Amino acid sequence: MSRIVIRGGLVVTAAEEVHADVLVQGGRIAALAARGSDPAEGWAGSADRVIDAGGMYVLPGGVDAHTHMELPFGGTFASDSFESGTRAAAWGGTTTVVDFAVQSVGESLRAGLDAWHAKADGRCAIDYGFHMILSDVTEDTLEEMDVLVEEGVTSFKLFMAYPGVFYSDDGRILRAMQRGAADGGLIMMHAENGIAIDVLVEQALAAGRTDPRYHGEVRHALLEAEATHRAIRLAQVAGCPLYVVHVSARQAVEQIALARDEGLNVFGETCPQYLFLSTDNLAEPGFEGAKYVCSTPLRPREHQAVLWRGLRTNDLQVVSTDHCPFCFLGQKELGRGDFSKIPNGLPGVENRMDLLHQAVVEGRISRRRWVEIACAAPARMFGLYPRKGTIAPGADADIVVYDPAAEQVLSARTHHMNVDYSAYEGKRITGQVKTVLSRGELVLDGREYVGRAGHGQYIPRGTCQYLV
Ligand code: URP
Ligand code: ZN
Ligand code: ZN
Repeated sequence: MSRIVIRGGLVVTAAEEVHADVLVQGGRIAALAARGSDPAEGWAGSADRVIDAGGMYVLPGGVDAHTHMELPFGGTFASDSFESGTRAAAWGGTTTVVDFAVQSVGESLRAGLDAWHAKADGRCAIDYGFHMILSDVTEDTLEEMDVLVEEGVTSFKLFMAYPGVFYSDDGRILRAMQRGAADGGLIMMHAENGIAIDVLVEQALAAGRTDPRYHGEVRHALLEAEATHRAIRLAQVAGCPLYVVHVSARQAVEQIALARDEGLNVFGETCPQYLFLSTDNLAEPGFEGAKYVCSTPLRPREHQAVLWRGLRTNDLQVVSTDHCPFCFLGQKELGRGDFSKIPNGLPGVENRMDLLHQAVVEGRISRRRWVEIACAAPARMFGLYPRKGTIAPGADADIVVYDPAAEQVLSARTHHMNVDYSAYEGKRITGQVKTVLSRGELVLDGREYVGRAGHGQYIPRGTCQYLV
C-alpha cells in the first residue's frame, strides 16, 4: 500500500485553512498533522514519496458537476471524448466530473445510461458519475427514475428549451418533479422558455439577422427569468428540490434568491463563461462570435456583478463548466449564415479552477469560498461528500497542489482540451495546478502528465446532501 506525504503546504478546504502535512495511504487521506509535529516528522521517513508543497495550497480536487463529453448536439458531437476531456480536467485540477447521460425520445433511461457507460468505461483519467437527461417523460420513464436513484444516478435534467429535441412541457416536468420528490431525486432545470425563443429565432432569421450575436438577443434574459420562476413554482407544488443549471441572467438570480428567502430547496449553478465573458464576445467581428454561442447565452457585462454577488451570498451555490466543446472549424461553422445552427456549448473543463482562483486574486471571493463553490458544494449537492470535495481522514485522496504565485496565459496552443480555440485566449491568470492525485495515484506530477485512461472509476452517488 503506497504512502505519500504532502509536506509544507497550506491545506485549504471550504471550512478552514491550516498549515498541515497530509498523509495518503491506500488511495485515501489517512491523516493530517501540524507541520513539524511528531507524527508529521515520522511520516516522511516511511513514505514512498514526499511531495514538497512549500508555498503551495493543498486543495481537494475540483468537482465539475456539469460536463458533456461526446454529446450529440446540433448535428454533431461535442469534441472531447471521455478520455481527452477527463485528462484535460485533471490538468486543470478537477478530479471528478458528473456528466449527462441522455435519454433520446422513444428510448428508455436504461438504454441511454448504458450508452454513456459504454462511452466512459475504461477511458477516464479521473473519477466520474452521471446525471440523466430526461427527453421523454412517460409512465415507464417515471418508474425507471426510482431504479436509477437506487443505482446512484440521483439527479435528472429537464429542459424547458429546445422544442423537438430535449424539451418537456410543464405537465411532464411536474410529473418528473413529483417522482423526484418521492424517490429523493434532484431535478436539474435548463430554464429558458424555448417555445417563445423559437418564435423570436424565426422572426430574427426572417429579418436577415443571422449573425452569432442574435443568438444572445433572441434568448432574452426575461425568458430565462420567466422559466426559472415557473420551474421554481412547479417544484414547490411537487415538493421537490430544484437545481437550476447554467444561470446567466440577473433576473433569474433574483428569482432563485426570492425562492431561497422563502426557505425553498432551490439551488443555482453558474459557469465561468457567464462570470468572465459577455455579449461583447458574441458580437466579435466576422464569425468569431460563434465561439461564444451557448445556452443560456452570454449576457451584457452588467449581469456579472450580480452573479458574483450571488456566489458570495450563497444565492448561487456551485460553479460548474457546462463543458460542451465544439471546434470552430467544421463544427461552429455549421451555423454560418444562420446563428440557430451553431452548435451550443463552450469548452472550459480545464479552466474552471484557475479562473476562480483569479477571482480570489482579484478579491471577488475568498479562498475558502473558491473551494466551496468548486469542490465541496458540488460534492454535497450531488451526493459525493465527504468522499469527494474535502481533505479529511477517510476521504478519497483526490488532492491538488496549487501554486498561487505561478503566472500563466490561457491559450488553445497550450490547453489539453480537444478543441481548436480557447474561450479565454490570452487571459492572464495568477495561479496554476502543479500536482494532482486521484485516489492516491499521481495524475499530474509537477506539470508532467503521468495519468492513464482507465484509472478513473464510475462513482455511484447518494442523494442531495444540501437540503435545508
Ligand atoms: O450551450 C449549452 N449549454 N450546451 C450544452 C447543453 C446544455 O443545455 O447544457
Ligand atoms: Zn442546459
Ligand atoms: Zn449542459
